[in-house]
Amino acid sequence: MPPTAEALVDLGAVRTNIEVLRDRARNADVMGVVKADGYGHGMVPVARAMVAAGAAWLGTALVEEALQLRRAGIRTPTLAWIIPPGTPLGEAVASDIDLGVSTRWGLDEIAAAARAAGRPARVHLKADTGLSRGGVTPGEWSDVVEAAARAEAAGLLRVTGVFSHFARADEPGHPSIAAQLTAFHDALALAEKAGLRPEVRHMANSAATLTLPDAHFDLVRPGIAGYGLTPIPDLAGTGLRPAMTLRAPLTVVKRVPAGTGVSYGHRYVTDRPTTLAVVPLGYADGVPRAATNVGPVFVAGRRRRIAGTVCMDQFVVDIGDDEARAGEPAVLFGAGDGGEPTAQDWAEALDTISYEIVCRVGQRVPRRYVGGDGEWPDPR
Ligand SMILES: Cc1ncc(COP(=O)(O)O)c(C=O)c1O
Repeated sequence: MPPTAEALVDLGAVRTNIEVLRDRARNADVMGVVKADGYGHGMVPVARAMVAAGAAWLGTALVEEALQLRRAGIRTPTLAWIIPPGTPLGEAVASDIDLGVSTRWGLDEIAAAARAAGRPARVHLKADTGLSRGGVTPGEWSDVVEAAARAEAAGLLRVTGVFSHFARADEPGHPSIAAQLTAFHDALALAEKAGLRPEVRHMANSAATLTLPDAHFDLVRPGIAGYGLTPIPDLAGTGLRPAMTLRAPLTVVKRVPAGTGVSYGHRYVTDRPTTLAVVPLGYADGVPRAATNVGPVFVAGRRRRIAGTVCMDQFVVDIGDDEARAGEPAVLFGAGDGGEPTAQDWAEALDTISYEIVCRVGQRVPRRYVGGDGEWPDPR
Protein backbone atom coordinates (compact mmCIF):
# COMPACT_ATOMS: atom_id res chain seq x y z
CA MET A 1 0.00 0.00 0.00
CA PRO A 2 1.12 3.64 -0.44
CA PRO A 3 2.90 5.32 2.50
CA THR A 4 -0.24 7.18 3.58
CA ALA A 5 -3.61 6.34 4.98
CA GLU A 6 -6.26 6.17 2.27
CA ALA A 7 -9.93 5.65 1.64
CA LEU A 8 -10.13 3.30 -1.28
CA VAL A 9 -13.43 3.77 -3.11
CA ASP A 10 -14.61 0.99 -5.40
CA LEU A 11 -16.63 2.68 -8.13
CA GLY A 12 -17.50 -0.74 -9.54
CA ALA A 13 -19.31 -1.44 -6.26
CA VAL A 14 -21.15 1.89 -6.55
CA ARG A 15 -22.29 0.96 -10.07
CA THR A 16 -23.40 -2.48 -8.93
CA ASN A 17 -25.34 -0.96 -6.04
CA ILE A 18 -27.17 1.44 -8.34
CA GLU A 19 -28.03 -1.48 -10.64
CA VAL A 20 -29.40 -3.40 -7.62
CA LEU A 21 -31.49 -0.35 -6.64
CA ARG A 22 -32.77 0.16 -10.19
CA ASP A 23 -33.84 -3.45 -10.18
CA ARG A 24 -35.69 -2.97 -6.86
CA ALA A 25 -37.26 0.27 -8.09
CA ARG A 26 -38.70 -1.48 -11.16
CA ASN A 27 -40.60 1.23 -13.06
CA ALA A 28 -39.41 4.10 -10.91
CA ASP A 29 -36.23 6.02 -11.73
CA VAL A 30 -33.36 6.24 -9.28
CA MET A 31 -31.95 9.45 -7.79
CA GLY A 32 -28.46 8.82 -6.44
CA VAL A 33 -28.07 10.93 -3.30
CA VAL A 34 -24.53 12.36 -3.29
CA LYS A 35 -24.75 15.06 -0.60
CA ALA A 36 -22.04 15.42 2.07
CA ASP A 37 -19.28 14.69 -0.45
CA GLY A 38 -21.00 11.53 -1.60
CA TYR A 39 -21.43 10.31 2.01
CA GLY A 40 -17.67 10.84 2.39
CA HIS A 41 -16.76 8.85 -0.73
CA GLY A 42 -16.11 11.88 -2.97
CA MET A 43 -19.08 13.50 -4.65
CA VAL A 44 -18.00 13.92 -8.27
CA PRO A 45 -16.46 10.48 -8.98
CA VAL A 46 -19.35 8.78 -7.21
CA ALA A 47 -21.93 10.84 -9.10
CA ARG A 48 -20.29 9.90 -12.39
CA ALA A 49 -20.36 6.21 -11.47
CA MET A 50 -24.01 6.43 -10.44
CA VAL A 51 -25.01 8.15 -13.68
CA ALA A 52 -23.02 5.56 -15.68
CA ALA A 53 -25.04 2.86 -13.88
CA GLY A 54 -28.32 4.48 -14.86
CA ALA A 55 -29.19 6.91 -12.07
CA ALA A 56 -31.54 9.34 -13.85
CA TRP A 57 -31.31 11.96 -11.09
CA LEU A 58 -28.81 13.13 -8.49
CA GLY A 59 -29.72 14.55 -5.08
CA THR A 60 -27.82 16.98 -2.87
CA ALA A 61 -28.63 18.82 0.31
CA LEU A 62 -27.04 22.17 -0.59
CA VAL A 63 -27.34 24.24 -3.74
CA GLU A 64 -23.55 24.66 -3.68
CA GLU A 65 -23.15 20.88 -3.88
CA ALA A 66 -25.42 20.75 -6.93
CA LEU A 67 -23.44 23.58 -8.53
CA GLN A 68 -20.22 21.63 -7.98
CA LEU A 69 -21.71 18.79 -10.00
CA ARG A 70 -22.58 21.20 -12.83
CA ARG A 71 -19.09 22.73 -12.72
CA ALA A 72 -17.70 19.21 -13.10
CA GLY A 73 -19.75 18.91 -16.29
CA ILE A 74 -22.48 16.64 -14.88
CA ARG A 75 -25.75 17.69 -16.53
CA THR A 76 -27.98 14.98 -14.99
CA PRO A 77 -31.19 16.40 -13.42
CA THR A 78 -30.20 17.35 -9.87
CA LEU A 79 -32.33 18.29 -6.87
CA ALA A 80 -31.00 20.36 -3.92
CA TRP A 81 -33.36 20.50 -0.94
CA ILE A 82 -31.82 22.60 1.83
CA ILE A 83 -32.04 26.29 0.96
CA PRO A 84 -31.52 28.76 3.82
CA PRO A 85 -33.04 32.24 3.40
CA GLY A 86 -30.96 34.56 1.26
CA THR A 87 -29.20 31.75 -0.65
CA PRO A 88 -28.06 33.17 -4.01
CA LEU A 89 -30.12 31.18 -6.52
CA GLY A 90 -29.33 32.82 -9.87
CA GLU A 91 -26.67 30.31 -10.91
CA ALA A 92 -28.84 27.41 -9.77
CA VAL A 93 -31.79 28.63 -11.85
CA ALA A 94 -29.50 29.24 -14.84
CA SER A 95 -28.00 25.74 -14.38
CA ASP A 96 -31.41 24.02 -14.29
CA ILE A 97 -30.95 22.77 -10.76
CA ASP A 98 -34.22 21.60 -9.25
CA LEU A 99 -34.87 23.34 -5.94
CA GLY A 100 -36.72 21.88 -2.97
CA VAL A 101 -39.39 24.06 -1.35
CA SER A 102 -40.24 23.62 2.32
CA THR A 103 -41.74 27.04 3.09
CA ARG A 104 -43.84 29.77 1.51
CA TRP A 105 -40.97 32.27 1.76
CA GLY A 106 -38.71 29.73 0.07
CA LEU A 107 -41.11 29.56 -2.86
CA ASP A 108 -41.20 33.36 -3.05
CA GLU A 109 -37.39 33.63 -3.01
CA ILE A 110 -37.11 31.10 -5.83
CA ALA A 111 -39.76 32.95 -7.87
CA ALA A 112 -37.87 36.22 -7.35
CA ALA A 113 -34.60 34.56 -8.49
CA ALA A 114 -36.38 33.22 -11.58
CA ARG A 115 -37.75 36.66 -12.41
CA ALA A 116 -34.24 38.12 -12.10
CA ALA A 117 -32.73 35.31 -14.19
CA GLY A 118 -35.39 35.68 -16.87
CA ARG A 119 -36.17 31.96 -16.94
CA PRO A 120 -38.46 29.67 -14.94
CA ALA A 121 -37.05 27.85 -11.92
CA ARG A 122 -37.60 24.11 -11.51
CA VAL A 123 -39.04 23.30 -8.08
CA HIS A 124 -40.06 20.27 -6.05
CA LEU A 125 -42.59 20.99 -3.31
CA LYS A 126 -41.82 19.06 -0.14
CA ALA A 127 -44.67 17.89 2.05
CA ASP A 128 -44.06 17.24 5.73
CA THR A 129 -45.98 13.99 6.11
CA GLY A 130 -44.70 13.18 9.59
CA LEU A 131 -40.92 13.60 9.85
CA SER A 132 -41.41 17.12 11.25
CA ARG A 133 -38.12 18.32 9.82
CA GLY A 134 -38.16 20.05 6.41
CA GLY A 135 -41.36 20.17 4.37
CA VAL A 136 -44.59 22.11 4.37
CA THR A 137 -47.04 21.14 7.12
CA PRO A 138 -50.52 19.91 6.11
CA GLY A 139 -51.95 23.18 7.46
CA GLU A 140 -49.88 25.28 5.05
CA TRP A 141 -49.85 22.90 2.08
CA SER A 142 -52.87 24.35 0.26
CA ASP A 143 -51.46 27.87 0.46
CA VAL A 144 -48.08 26.71 -0.92
CA VAL A 145 -49.46 24.59 -3.77
CA GLU A 146 -51.85 27.38 -4.81
CA ALA A 147 -49.05 29.97 -4.74
CA ALA A 148 -46.89 27.57 -6.75
CA ALA A 149 -49.66 27.12 -9.31
CA ARG A 150 -49.99 30.91 -9.69
CA ALA A 151 -46.20 31.30 -10.09
CA GLU A 152 -46.25 28.50 -12.65
CA ALA A 153 -49.05 30.22 -14.58
CA ALA A 154 -47.00 33.44 -14.50
CA GLY A 155 -44.08 31.57 -16.11
CA LEU A 156 -41.83 31.99 -13.06
CA LEU A 157 -41.45 28.36 -12.22
CA ARG A 158 -42.27 24.83 -13.18
CA VAL A 159 -43.28 22.41 -10.42
CA THR A 160 -41.29 19.41 -11.63
CA GLY A 161 -41.71 17.38 -8.44
CA VAL A 162 -43.62 16.79 -5.23
CA PHE A 163 -41.84 14.84 -2.52
CA SER A 164 -41.65 13.83 1.11
CA HIS A 165 -39.32 11.92 3.43
CA PHE A 166 -39.85 9.07 5.91
CA ALA A 167 -39.08 9.16 9.63
CA ARG A 168 -38.98 5.42 10.29
CA ALA A 169 -38.74 3.53 6.98
CA ASP A 170 -35.86 1.56 8.48
CA GLU A 171 -38.39 -0.11 10.79
CA PRO A 172 -40.50 -2.04 8.28
CA GLY A 173 -44.09 -2.35 9.43
CA HIS A 174 -43.96 0.63 11.78
CA PRO A 175 -47.39 2.34 11.74
CA SER A 176 -45.86 5.75 10.96
CA ILE A 177 -44.91 4.44 7.51
CA ALA A 178 -48.50 3.81 6.42
CA ALA A 179 -49.60 7.09 8.02
CA GLN A 180 -46.94 9.01 6.08
CA LEU A 181 -47.93 7.30 2.82
CA THR A 182 -51.56 8.30 3.36
CA ALA A 183 -50.53 11.87 4.13
CA PHE A 184 -48.42 11.96 0.96
CA HIS A 185 -51.33 10.75 -1.17
CA ASP A 186 -53.44 13.54 0.37
CA ALA A 187 -50.75 16.11 -0.42
CA LEU A 188 -50.52 14.85 -4.01
CA ALA A 189 -54.30 15.10 -4.42
CA LEU A 190 -54.30 18.72 -3.23
CA ALA A 191 -51.42 19.57 -5.57
CA GLU A 192 -53.35 18.09 -8.46
CA LYS A 193 -56.49 19.96 -7.44
CA ALA A 194 -54.45 23.19 -7.57
CA GLY A 195 -53.58 22.32 -11.17
CA LEU A 196 -50.03 21.07 -10.63
CA ARG A 197 -48.80 18.18 -12.79
CA PRO A 198 -45.34 17.22 -11.43
CA GLU A 199 -43.15 14.97 -13.54
CA VAL A 200 -41.92 13.07 -10.49
CA ARG A 201 -43.48 12.20 -7.16
CA HIS A 202 -40.94 10.74 -4.73
CA MET A 203 -40.64 9.61 -1.14
CA ALA A 204 -38.46 6.51 -0.81
CA ASN A 205 -35.03 6.61 0.85
CA SER A 206 -32.80 3.50 0.82
CA ALA A 207 -34.92 1.64 3.37
CA ALA A 208 -38.17 2.25 1.50
CA THR A 209 -36.54 1.51 -1.86
CA LEU A 210 -35.47 -1.89 -0.51
CA THR A 211 -38.60 -2.82 1.44
CA LEU A 212 -41.63 -0.78 0.39
CA PRO A 213 -42.70 -0.88 -3.30
CA ASP A 214 -45.83 1.17 -2.43
CA ALA A 215 -43.52 4.12 -1.71
CA HIS A 216 -41.65 4.03 -5.02
CA PHE A 217 -43.95 6.37 -7.01
CA ASP A 218 -42.00 7.79 -10.02
CA LEU A 219 -38.58 8.08 -8.43
CA VAL A 220 -36.68 6.64 -5.46
CA ARG A 221 -34.01 8.56 -3.54
CA PRO A 222 -31.51 6.10 -2.04
CA GLY A 223 -28.39 7.45 -0.41
CA ILE A 224 -26.60 4.99 1.86
CA ALA A 225 -27.52 1.92 -0.24
CA GLY A 226 -25.70 3.38 -3.22
CA TYR A 227 -22.55 3.14 -1.12
CA GLY A 228 -23.31 -0.50 -0.29
CA LEU A 229 -24.48 -0.04 3.28
CA THR A 230 -27.97 -0.68 4.52
CA PRO A 231 -30.11 1.22 7.01
CA ILE A 232 -31.64 -2.14 7.97
CA PRO A 233 -28.62 -4.25 8.99
CA ASP A 234 -30.70 -7.44 9.32
CA LEU A 235 -31.88 -7.23 5.72
CA ALA A 236 -30.25 -10.21 4.03
CA GLY A 237 -29.52 -10.82 0.37
CA THR A 238 -29.62 -7.27 -0.88
CA GLY A 239 -26.63 -7.77 -3.19
CA LEU A 240 -25.23 -4.43 -2.05
CA ARG A 241 -21.46 -4.11 -1.67
CA PRO A 242 -19.73 -1.57 0.62
CA ALA A 243 -17.69 0.73 -1.61
CA MET A 244 -15.22 2.27 0.85
CA THR A 245 -12.18 0.67 2.47
CA LEU A 246 -10.37 2.77 5.06
CA ARG A 247 -6.82 1.64 5.70
CA ALA A 248 -3.40 2.90 6.77
CA PRO A 249 0.17 1.59 6.86
CA LEU A 250 1.52 0.69 10.29
CA THR A 251 4.09 3.31 11.28
CA VAL A 252 5.67 1.66 14.34
CA VAL A 253 5.71 -1.96 15.54
CA LYS A 254 7.41 -2.70 18.87
CA ARG A 255 7.64 -5.17 21.76
CA VAL A 256 6.67 -3.90 25.21
CA PRO A 257 6.63 -5.61 28.64
CA ALA A 258 3.57 -6.60 30.68
CA GLY A 259 2.07 -3.68 32.58
CA THR A 260 2.76 -1.08 29.87
CA GLY A 261 0.26 1.79 29.79
CA VAL A 262 -0.75 2.59 26.20
CA SER A 263 -1.69 5.99 24.66
CA TYR A 264 -3.02 9.10 26.43
CA GLY A 265 -4.40 8.41 29.88
CA HIS A 266 -3.10 4.83 29.82
CA ARG A 267 -6.66 3.61 29.29
CA TYR A 268 -5.19 0.31 28.10
CA VAL A 269 -2.51 -1.56 30.02
CA THR A 270 -0.82 -4.67 28.59
CA ASP A 271 -1.41 -7.82 30.63
CA ARG A 272 1.62 -9.66 29.19
CA PRO A 273 4.71 -8.97 27.08
CA THR A 274 3.22 -8.08 23.73
CA THR A 275 3.63 -6.28 20.41
CA LEU A 276 2.04 -2.88 19.77
CA ALA A 277 1.33 -1.59 16.25
CA VAL A 278 0.70 2.10 15.62
CA VAL A 279 -1.87 3.18 12.99
CA PRO A 280 -1.66 6.74 11.58
CA LEU A 281 -5.35 7.63 11.68
CA GLY A 282 -7.02 9.57 14.46
CA TYR A 283 -10.00 11.70 15.30
CA ALA A 284 -8.76 14.41 12.90
CA ASP A 285 -9.31 11.80 10.18
CA GLY A 286 -12.76 10.83 11.39
CA VAL A 287 -11.91 7.91 13.68
CA PRO A 288 -14.20 8.76 16.60
CA ARG A 289 -12.41 9.24 19.93
CA ALA A 290 -15.24 7.13 21.32
CA ALA A 291 -13.58 4.20 19.50
CA THR A 292 -11.03 4.15 22.35
CA ASN A 293 -10.63 0.47 23.39
CA VAL A 294 -13.61 -0.61 21.23
CA GLY A 295 -13.04 0.22 17.52
CA PRO A 296 -12.46 -2.95 15.46
CA VAL A 297 -9.38 -3.12 13.20
CA PHE A 298 -7.90 -5.83 10.97
CA VAL A 299 -4.14 -6.00 11.58
CA ALA A 300 -1.60 -8.78 11.01
CA GLY A 301 -4.15 -11.25 9.66
CA ARG A 302 -6.74 -10.90 12.40
CA ARG A 303 -9.50 -8.69 13.66
CA ARG A 304 -8.65 -6.86 16.89
CA ARG A 305 -9.70 -3.84 18.94
CA ILE A 306 -8.04 -0.47 19.33
CA ALA A 307 -5.83 -0.42 22.45
CA GLY A 308 -6.21 2.77 24.44
CA THR A 309 -7.17 6.30 23.53
CA VAL A 310 -7.71 7.36 19.90
CA CYS A 311 -5.45 10.42 19.44
CA MET A 312 -5.75 13.21 16.86
CA ASP A 313 -3.55 11.48 14.28
CA GLN A 314 -3.01 7.90 15.42
CA PHE A 315 -4.04 4.99 17.58
CA VAL A 316 -2.46 1.75 18.80
CA VAL A 317 -3.39 -1.91 18.39
CA ASP A 318 -2.14 -4.77 20.59
CA ILE A 319 -1.27 -7.66 18.26
CA GLY A 320 -0.02 -10.03 20.96
CA ASP A 321 2.68 -12.38 19.72
CA ASP A 322 1.68 -12.05 16.06
CA GLU A 323 4.12 -10.58 13.61
CA ALA A 324 3.73 -7.38 11.65
CA ARG A 325 6.05 -4.93 9.95
CA ALA A 326 5.87 -1.18 9.60
CA GLY A 327 4.28 -0.37 6.23
CA GLU A 328 1.82 -3.24 6.15
CA PRO A 329 -1.83 -2.20 6.17
CA ALA A 330 -4.26 -1.92 9.03
CA VAL A 331 -7.81 -2.03 7.68
CA LEU A 332 -10.42 -0.20 9.75
CA PHE A 333 -13.34 -1.15 7.54
CA GLY A 334 -14.12 -2.43 4.08
CA ALA A 335 -16.45 -4.78 2.25
CA GLY A 336 -15.85 -7.41 4.94
CA ASP A 337 -14.94 -10.33 2.72
CA GLY A 338 -11.25 -10.33 3.65
CA GLY A 339 -12.03 -10.63 7.36
CA GLU A 340 -11.92 -6.87 7.92
CA PRO A 341 -14.70 -5.10 9.85
CA THR A 342 -17.38 -3.20 7.94
CA ALA A 343 -18.66 0.32 8.56
CA GLN A 344 -21.71 -1.41 10.06
CA ASP A 345 -19.43 -3.21 12.55
CA TRP A 346 -17.99 0.18 13.52
CA ALA A 347 -21.48 1.60 13.88
CA GLU A 348 -22.47 -1.21 16.21
CA ALA A 349 -19.27 -0.88 18.29
CA LEU A 350 -19.88 2.85 18.70
CA ASP A 351 -23.67 2.91 19.04
CA THR A 352 -24.16 4.94 15.88
CA ILE A 353 -25.09 4.31 12.23
CA SER A 354 -22.86 3.39 9.30
CA TYR A 355 -23.76 6.72 7.65
CA GLU A 356 -21.80 8.59 10.32
CA ILE A 357 -18.77 6.30 10.05
CA VAL A 358 -18.28 6.86 6.30
CA CYS A 359 -19.35 10.53 6.24
CA ARG A 360 -16.87 11.58 8.88
CA VAL A 361 -13.72 10.27 7.15
CA GLY A 362 -11.68 13.47 7.13
CA GLN A 363 -10.48 15.64 4.29
CA ARG A 364 -6.88 14.76 5.17
CA VAL A 365 -7.42 11.16 4.06
CA PRO A 366 -6.87 10.91 0.29
CA ARG A 367 -9.59 9.06 -1.61
CA ARG A 368 -8.32 6.66 -4.25
CA TYR A 369 -10.74 5.39 -6.84
CA VAL A 370 -10.65 1.90 -8.29
CA GLY A 371 -13.11 -0.01 -10.40
CA GLY A 372 -13.92 2.97 -12.61
CA ASP A 373 -12.38 3.57 -16.00
CA GLY A 374 -8.89 2.91 -14.69
CA GLU A 375 -7.78 4.45 -11.41
CA TRP A 376 -8.96 7.99 -10.79
CA PRO A 377 -6.98 10.60 -8.92
CA ASP A 378 -8.57 12.27 -5.93
CA PRO A 379 -10.22 15.37 -7.45
CA ARG A 380 -9.52 17.49 -4.35
C1 LIG B 1 -34.56 14.18 1.67
C2 LIG B 1 -33.67 12.98 1.64
N1 LIG B 1 -33.86 12.04 0.70
C3 LIG B 1 -33.10 10.93 0.65
C4 LIG B 1 -32.07 10.72 1.54
C5 LIG B 1 -31.28 9.45 1.48
O1 LIG B 1 -31.49 8.68 2.64
P1 LIG B 1 -30.78 7.26 2.82
O2 LIG B 1 -29.32 7.55 2.85
O3 LIG B 1 -31.30 6.76 4.12
O4 LIG B 1 -31.17 6.44 1.66
C6 LIG B 1 -31.83 11.68 2.52
C7 LIG B 1 -30.75 11.47 3.50
O5 LIG B 1 -30.70 11.96 4.58
C8 LIG B 1 -32.64 12.84 2.57
O6 LIG B 1 -32.44 13.78 3.51
